Amino acid sequence: MNSHPVIMQLMLLGSMLMAMRIDSASQPLLSCPSSCGDIVVPFPFGTTHGCSLDESFFITCNKSYNTPKPFLNFDKIEVIDISIDGHMRIAASVVSDCYDKSGSQINGSISKLTLSKFHISSTRNKFTAVGCDTNALVEGSEEWNQMSAGCVSWCDNIDRVVNGSCSGIGCCQTSIPKGVKDFFIGVQSFQNHSRVKTFNPCGYAFVVEAEAFKFSSLDLKDLQKRKTVPVVLDWSIGNDTCQVAGKNLSTYACRAMHSECSDSSNGLGYNCNCLTGFEGNPYLYDGCRDINECESKPCQGTCENLQGSYKCFCPEGFEGDGKKDGTGCHPKGRAKTSIFLYIASGLFFPAAGSSWIFWRSKKKKVVTLRRKLYTQNGGLILERRSQKPRVFTAEYLRNATDNYDESRFVYTDTHNEPVYRGSLCNEDEVNVLVNIKRCVTIEFHRIEVFINKLVILFSINHRNFVNLIGCCLETQYPLLVYEFFTDTTLYDFIHDNAPFLSWEIRLKIAEKNCSGNCVFA
Ligand SMILES: *[C@@H]1O[C@H](CO)[C@@H](O)[C@H](O)[C@H]1NC(C)=O
Ligand SMILES: *[C@@H]1O[C@H](CO)[C@@H](O)[C@H](O)[C@H]1NC(C)=O
Ligand SMILES: *[C@@H]1O[C@H](CO)[C@@H](O)[C@H](O)[C@H]1NC(C)=O
Ligand SMILES: *[C@@H]1O[C@H](CO)[C@@H](O)[C@H](O)[C@H]1NC(C)=O
Ligand SMILES: *[C@@H]1O[C@H](CO)[C@@H](O)[C@H](O)[C@H]1NC(C)=O
Ligand SMILES: *[C@@H]1O[C@H](CO)[C@@H](O)[C@H](O)[C@H]1NC(C)=O
Repeated sequence: MNSHPVIMQLMLLGSMLMAMRIDSASQPLLSCPSSCGDIVVPFPFGTTHGCSLDESFFITCNKSYNTPKPFLNFDKIEVIDISIDGHMRIAASVVSDCYDKSGSQINGSISKLTLSKFHISSTRNKFTAVGCDTNALVEGSEEWNQMSAGCVSWCDNIDRVVNGSCSGIGCCQTSIPKGVKDFFIGVQSFQNHSRVKTFNPCGYAFVVEAEAFKFSSLDLKDLQKRKTVPVVLDWSIGNDTCQVAGKNLSTYACRAMHSECSDSSNGLGYNCNCLTGFEGNPYLYDGCRDINECESKPCQGTCENLQGSYKCFCPEGFEGDGKKDGTGCHPKGRAKTSIFLYIASGLFFPAAGSSWIFWRSKKKKVVTLRRKLYTQNGGLILERRSQKPRVFTAEYLRNATDNYDESRFVYTDTHNEPVYRGSLCNEDEVNVLVNIKRCVTIEFHRIEVFINKLVILFSINHRNFVNLIGCCLETQYPLLVYEFFTDTTLYDFIHDNAPFLSWEIRLKIAEKNCSGNCVFA
């Protein structure tokens, strides 16, 4: 019976370590190249086997160029860039049909592009024909049927063409339907350009990113020597909708914590996005990171970055939402809110529920003092943080250390701050060993810095680091509660070499029954 909590505690410690190891090992992509030449290749794409989500996301990085170049479909389609939002640009060739002075065809070409999985973006590309005697055709296959479209471009005189206009005079544009994943382009002339040979010997046709092509009368001569043009593709994961894909977590690609799924708007499959307020790669475990909105200075008052958002605060004596694009900060009429704050902090106050009445009747003075210390030690600043360590009561930590008994004293750290060994209960009512440190060197005029350090320490989760679990701010000097460690260098705790405590002592500490002192904030 008595050994039960010990085993639990060891299992807990063990599983904490395991969890950390697995977590850091679950980034199999760290060793994968993240670019090819100058081009970033983000997961789900990859340039070596095992680095892409599947074969359709495999990018061949051809290193025989001065700057290596990425290709899709094994060296056939050159990739210009890949964007994590579900688009990529490729270079597609221009089809031309040229005639000499006597009117005979010099050269003609056709263009065929076949994509295995991805679709030509229907919203960002246009099928374009350039010429004054030009009849162009595009044919492609959609998921279930064939599509074809044509564009005729004509003109009598170069003075009639308008720069930037593709309405059929010198240039013609039409859109591409959804779901097209391959196309064939052909171009012909009606009268072998004999009528316009002085200024337009060739007809051209191509699919191009609409933003990337602005027609100019100079294009009629030789398309300003362009041989390839950028085309935008839409990429997506798998063949399923979010609803179906989300059911199988072993294959579900939206792995980041703060990510969401959206069905592809062009063909089958789905895409992942970081939630609003986060940025990064939603296909990686830790991919979506919080955006620090405060960097763009959106507040009139002080700004605090939160997970996924931010908050503005007005200075003392001012009110409003504090936002530059909101109501800002303006002087307030009465200090009514300070009463509200007082109540609010009372609610937050540790163990408020059970001990409130007790405190009120018997230890009013102590409560007042503790609240004063709590405020002085930055408690109110900490409350405003979204991610914060657990807050313990002074009472609770005193209990956990047998009133800071000598037998619990571990050592004095490099700052001359005493560290005690304590035992407390986690959420599952299991005894865990902790180290409790009293911060005597805190600089009270820099309390904000201290609170920031707390929040940062709390957010670090690394196996070579002693994790901060919680704190107590209602004592003369703040108390910090750390994950149990025995090594005397606080921040360099290396589990393997630590001189562990004897089993006897462990047993004694862990024997303490949880149910007696589990009062958490
Ligand atoms: C790389 O490109 C060169 C030149 O285009 C080509 O000859 C070669 O086959 C390509 N290499 C691979 C591995 O595809
Ligand atoms: C070019 O077209 C003109 C009429 O437009 C025709 O007379 C001529 O034979 C054609 N030349 C060739 C080589 O097809
Ligand atoms: C076709 O011939 C013209 C004129 O000689 C030349 O400028 C153009 O590059 C050629 N096009 C192709 C695709 O070979
Ligand atoms: C179109 O713009 C180019 C310069 O980009 C200029 O040389 C040409 O004359 C313009 N053509 C017309 C018809 O305005
Ligand atoms: C999607 O469907 C196509 C054919 O419908 C199939 O060839 C391909 O393997 C499927 N891809 C996935 C990831 O299931
Ligand atoms: C999830 O996907 C994997 C791999 O395709 C498959 O082996 C497994 O059976 C799937 N699980 C469920 C519950 O569908």
